[in-house]
Amino acid sequence: MKRVAILASGGGSNAGALMASMESDHPARTCLVFSNDAAAGVLNRARTAGVPTESLDHRAYPSREAFDGALHDLLTSYRPDIICLAGFMRILTPGFVGRWQGRMLNIHPSLLPAYPGLHTHARALEARDTYHGCSVHIVTPELDAGPILGQARLAIQPDEDADALAARVLRLEHQLYPTVLRRFSSGETDRIDLEADRVASRAQPDAQPDA
Ligand code: GRF
Repeated sequence: MKRVAILASGGGSNAGALMASMESDHPARTCLVFSNDAAAGVLNRARTAGVPTESLDHRAYPSREAFDGALHDLLTSYRPDIICLAGFMRILTPGFVGRWQGRMLNIHPSLLPAYPGLHTHARALEARDTYHGCSVHIVTPELDAGPILGQARLAIQPDEDADALAARVLRLEHQLYPTVLRRFSSGETDRIDLEADRVASRAQPDAQPDA
């Protein structure tokens, strides 16, 4: 049975979906939910699910390296096989990433390599993209740039605003991340692509064809 540590900074809806998925014949279980914010909603979710929680306030450390060193030591004590970043709003140092490389996953709300970083939904709308979605990838030192394990996409609706789009993508995230984690926990690293719908209301003649 694989042990999974989840790192999150906010409400943790993705963390919730991951925790809920790891039951019965799933090859992994959550061993820890960690947050850099002791007040983060994700910690309450974990407590409710009976999952161990820890937090370290990054502001109490003199440098990124010092915080990441303390985080590494804390994580190691829980012996995770896999780390899932789920809305963890801290950039991790290359040293930390190197220690967990190949074992740390992240979910990002865009069809990477498009739109690494923040404000992905607004940027997809601004670009008048036909499709948007989310990606799960292996974490490497470069932000949002590691090998992609899975993507889920949807067709952007006419007149959809960034909030509505974000909400629809978040629902896709809750499907994609558990799907990828289950496969990854079984040693499967070939990429999976999920399609939310096939209604491309803004599709242009040269639009990306359906996969
Ligand atoms: C998600 O959109 C995730 O892709 C991004 O941060 C958000 C976290 O949401 N990295 P939640 O805390 O899982 O609800």
